[in-house]
Amino acid sequence: MSVEAALPRPLPEGFLPPNCSYPEQDWPVLARQWFPLVCADDPLVKPRQVVLLNLRLAVYRMPDGIRIGRDMCPHRGLPLSSGRIEGEELVCAYHGLRFGSDGQCRLVPEKLAPKTADCFRITAFPAVERHGLIWTCLIPEDETWMPSISSEGENSPQDGVTSIFKLSIESLVDSQKDLALDELQRLLEELGFGSMPNALASSGA
Ligand code: FES
Repeated sequence: MSVEAALPRPLPEGFLPPNCSYPEQDWPVLARQWFPLVCADDPLVKPRQVVLLNLRLAVYRMPDGIRIGRDMCPHRGLPLSSGRIEGEELVCAYHGLRFGSDGQCRLVPEKLAPKTADCFRITAFPAVERHGLIWTCLIPEDETWMPSISSEGENSPQDGVTSIFKLSIESLVDSQKDLALDELQRLLEELGFGSMPNALASSGA
């Protein structure tokens, strides 16, 4: 099992996405769950925007693995998903700041002096591969932790998704489980998985 984990830089305490459609008390709880965002073998030739729990994320592939960051350049807040990958760097499309695989800015164009690279770092989230998918968590308990399950007895990636997700949300109250399942369903449809795995849909997890 390969694990690709960026060095996450967390969201600030008490953060809520702009125009959050979730109840204020539920969002931080949902943000502690793990959700699949892209297929692990997705070439991601260009950075891509994926929305998770109302938060815009930029998903991109660096030479050492897939990275997930907030889709907001730390310079002026414009979307990093409009940028490009050059070698081992993500280059913002707007003023050309260059970021390394750890999300730290490596180069600020001279025209932006006296700002230095130390001033800018992407808000980043873990990117963990399980069952052919890349999963993330917006408020991880631990930098690389996510439910760990045996792959024995599983017949398909959907079985794996079901097992991980059930473990992930088992401590939630029913209304939060429903919100989490709706979000999972939306993401799975975007991934081309079609409908929710039966075991999840029928059990209400
Ligand atoms: S907004 Fe990204 S470099 Fe300015």
